[in-house]
Amino acid sequence: MCGIVAAISQTPVTQIIFEALRRLEYRGYDSAGIATLVTDRIERRRVAGKLDNLEKLLKEKPLPGHTGIGHTRWATHGAPTEINAHPHMTDKVCIVHNGIIENYEELRTELTEAGQIFRTDTDSEAVVQLLDYYLTQGKTPLQAAIATLQRLRGAYALAMIFAGYDNMVIGARHGAPLVIGYGEKEMFLGSDSLALAPLTQKISYLEDGDCVVMTQHDATIYTMDGNPVEREIKTTALAAGSIGKDGYRHYMEKELHEHPVVVGQTLQRFIDPTTHRIVPLNLPFDLSSIHRVSISACGSAFYAGLIGRYWIENYARIPVDIDVASELRYRNPPMEKGGLGILVSQSGETADTLAALKTFRENEQHIVSIVNVDQSSIARQSDYVFGTVAGPEISVASTKAFSAQLSVLACLAIALARAHNKIDPLQEEEMVNHLLELPSKISQIFVKKKEIQQMAEFVADAKTVLYLGRGSFFPLALEGALKLKEISYIHAEAYAAGEMKHGPIALIDQTVPVIAIAPSGPQFDKIASNLQEAKARGGRLLVFTDQAGAERLQTVAEQCIILPEVDAFVAPIIYTVPIQYLAYEVAIKKGTDVDQPRNLAKSVTVE
Ligand code: F6R
Repeated sequence: MCGIVAAISQTPVTQIIFEALRRLEYRGYDSAGIATLVTDRIERRRVAGKLDNLEKLLKEKPLPGHTGIGHTRWATHGAPTEINAHPHMTDKVCIVHNGIIENYEELRTELTEAGQIFRTDTDSEAVVQLLDYYLTQGKTPLQAAIATLQRLRGAYALAMIFAGYDNMVIGARHGAPLVIGYGEKEMFLGSDSLALAPLTQKISYLEDGDCVVMTQHDATIYTMDGNPVEREIKTTALAAGSIGKDGYRHYMEKELHEHPVVVGQTLQRFIDPTTHRIVPLNLPFDLSSIHRVSISACGSAFYAGLIGRYWIENYARIPVDIDVASELRYRNPPMEKGGLGILVSQSGETADTLAALKTFRENEQHIVSIVNVDQSSIARQSDYVFGTVAGPEISVASTKAFSAQLSVLACLAIALARAHNKIDPLQEEEMVNHLLELPSKISQIFVKKKEIQQMAEFVADAKTVLYLGRGSFFPLALEGALKLKEISYIHAEAYAAGEMKHGPIALIDQTVPVIAIAPSGPQFDKIASNLQEAKARGGRLLVFTDQAGAERLQTVAEQCIILPEVDAFVAPIIYTVPIQYLAYEVAIKKGTDVDQPRNLAKSVTVE
């Protein structure tokens, strides 16, 4: 949610900042801007809309300077106009901000009374006006920054430059991520290490409450009280090359094709290749002591958690509570001390999920997270991290991270089942073998591209689409509907198929495609009946199933896409792929901006 960058270099920084913003554009693309120090003045270029607009402006009006900051915005307060675009500045100071300043109205009133003049509708402007106010009072930039930070409530990652102070950027974080990059005679700040990947691999993650003063040669970090503090410098494995499209039309298409590899790599982390059993997990608590599990996450990650609940309850026989993260703390559920709290998050930075982690902590739960970014805030605050090995996911709509999350949840369910003596070694080996079959079975799905395109043709003309599933395929129906909504802008709803008759069946007519996820297996007969009911009311059925299922449904379904046979345990993982692929192909037909759909951002760091 908003990407920020800063750079100090011997060479001009505008291009460096611009390219880093490109790598952060997934965090928001409502407006963009860059500001640099030109001799002792601050110069700024900013535009409404995407970075392409900023690129055009920079061609017309180049921006020199060796010290600068940049921003790509996902609007929270104030419309996505040029006037509200960051950087925000006065003649003394200029800032970029990611987060929400919750007390901005109070600050605005106070500062307006003190003579400061506000020009935008944003919460962020309160920061720059506060800094300006303190500078006018005679404070140094660092003193002004610290005094400002002490007044802010809410979440922020900030980068600031000061007129007359070439070779200095001040950064700060509280509740939103910020990374320092150490280059050769140049230094950087970025919202994540991906932004800095082609510039340096030497990075340091700021902690909440940190404030950094950066020059071309080094960085000095202070706590909010102004005391110096050390943060470890790490080497990231991220390379510039890991973020190209590799010849695919979109990141989403590339990332869909990475499902088999990502599932394989993630499973490798948890499965012993010789014994075909789950490796010892070295958790800081005993899995056999866990008698209740709570899962919390947002969006697709929440749907992965829903499938995880089916697995944990079914195989380990442990009760599982699950909440969308934005609701967990307000529901205030009673939790017995010593339960297991699981957070699922691709980015590891989602503000609601982070808040759920705090709720688990307050309730003395053991906290494990399933995250794709090792050094993310959620990872760092967890007692144990189950890393997914999905690599950077750039497309705003999550794809490969979802199947990686499912792979981890499946392994965790087996580990819990073993710890509670609900499965014997032979059953464990059998379950693991089903998982190990997945990469090659998933690869076979891409052969179905033409059939998926044909289905997409039909769906693309619809105004409303219904997705149906039962059991562990119901969360997949939710995932399919979410993906379709977010990238093709077609209204879609998902129901547990048995719920249709309790209301939604009224929606069905010739114009509403009904997409069912219905592999043969324990609940097949039930969903087959639900589909007959839909058909009887004129519904046009599109079904993802297997050979046996297709034989049963061929007279009712308009189209069946036949997927490889897999055990019911792992089937949700394989059925994920065509469901997401269908949404992609519909979006292609609709001509939408697949990787950067309107109104969205990838990493949602505001509540
Ligand atoms: C949907 C999607 C979102 C995310 C959600 C959580 O395609 O990408 O629903 O799943 O915003 O994000 P993370 O996993 O980063 O916490």
